[in-house]
Amino acid sequence: MKRCRLLVLSLVIAVISMGFATIAAAGPIVIKFSHVVAENTPKGQMANKFKELIEKRLPGKVEVEVFPNSQLFGDNKVLEAMLLGDVHLAAPSLSKFKKYTKVLQLFDLPFLFKDMAAVSTFQDGPYGQKMLMSLESKGLIGLGYLHNGLKQLSASSPLRVPADAKKKKFRIMSSDVLAAQFEAVGAMPLKKPFSEVFTLLQTKAIDGQENTWSNIYSKKFFEVQPYITESNHGLLDYMVVTSAEFWKGLPAELRTEIKKALDEAIVFGNMVAAQKSVDDRQKIIDSKRSKVLVLTDAERLLWVEKMKPVWEKFEDQIGKDYLAAAIAAGK
Ligand code: SIN
Repeated sequence: MKRCRLLVLSLVIAVISMGFATIAAAGPIVIKFSHVVAENTPKGQMANKFKELIEKRLPGKVEVEVFPNSQLFGDNKVLEAMLLGDVHLAAPSLSKFKKYTKVLQLFDLPFLFKDMAAVSTFQDGPYGQKMLMSLESKGLIGLGYLHNGLKQLSASSPLRVPADAKKKKFRIMSSDVLAAQFEAVGAMPLKKPFSEVFTLLQTKAIDGQENTWSNIYSKKFFEVQPYITESNHGLLDYMVVTSAEFWKGLPAELRTEIKKALDEAIVFGNMVAAQKSVDDRQKIIDSKRSKVLVLTDAERLLWVEKMKPVWEKFEDQIGKDYLAAAIAAGK
């Protein structure tokens, strides 16, 4: 009997030790954050700030691994990978969610937001906040928006009026609105991953592309594009997303801390974005590799007149109330 009790006791001790060993072996929660841009960009800086905050506040409990420059996944694969649990955070451009929701197409409408203040007003308002949940039925949750800035047109020849873009090939993100925008000026849009843009421009397989000052600078597009038209015609912003399964599976107190750190990192990233849209523009001008063309009001109006009718094609898919709220945010 005594031997039997001893045997049961040893078994209990063994099971308990195995449990501790498993927890220790499981180690901290690892958050893999994948993105496609360079580290010296608003998104790159935001991701690094998030890592820094988490590791200071939750040492041993949560670790963040950041993978910049499409090292882990390009934007076309990252959301699928997230649903499989292979990556936990990403911040794709709002133009790259077409497969998951139509409402985010709003952000691609040309000449919708006159400046980044209007963008913030809309994103912080009820419609912008509702859009963060537009991916929920697909298993994804939007945790917040991050700014990059307004887009400019770069090309191998000067683009002053819409006719200058006719028959030219432009790389675009995977958005039907962006395709329609370029078709509206008689150009040929090509949906290509961000990681391929430099080579496509360098080899002259395409004539131009649209992007923000920080992406044009950090990916050296200005070195292979002799002209940049300061058009401010569209927006490049991001949604920070995670999978609902991962997010809801986190212990509640850790989830709260992680969200707090993310919100702070986004505020930091937005400051970087505002600064870079000024500094990177100036660095490009100073480099003398690319000529920055400033449009007259009359020239800009011609682009507006050609591109804005694209809104009508998409307003039913997006929702007229969303569009009205975005217009109101700029007033
Ligand atoms: C990004 O800023 O994340 C990439 C934008 C692009 O694909 O042009």
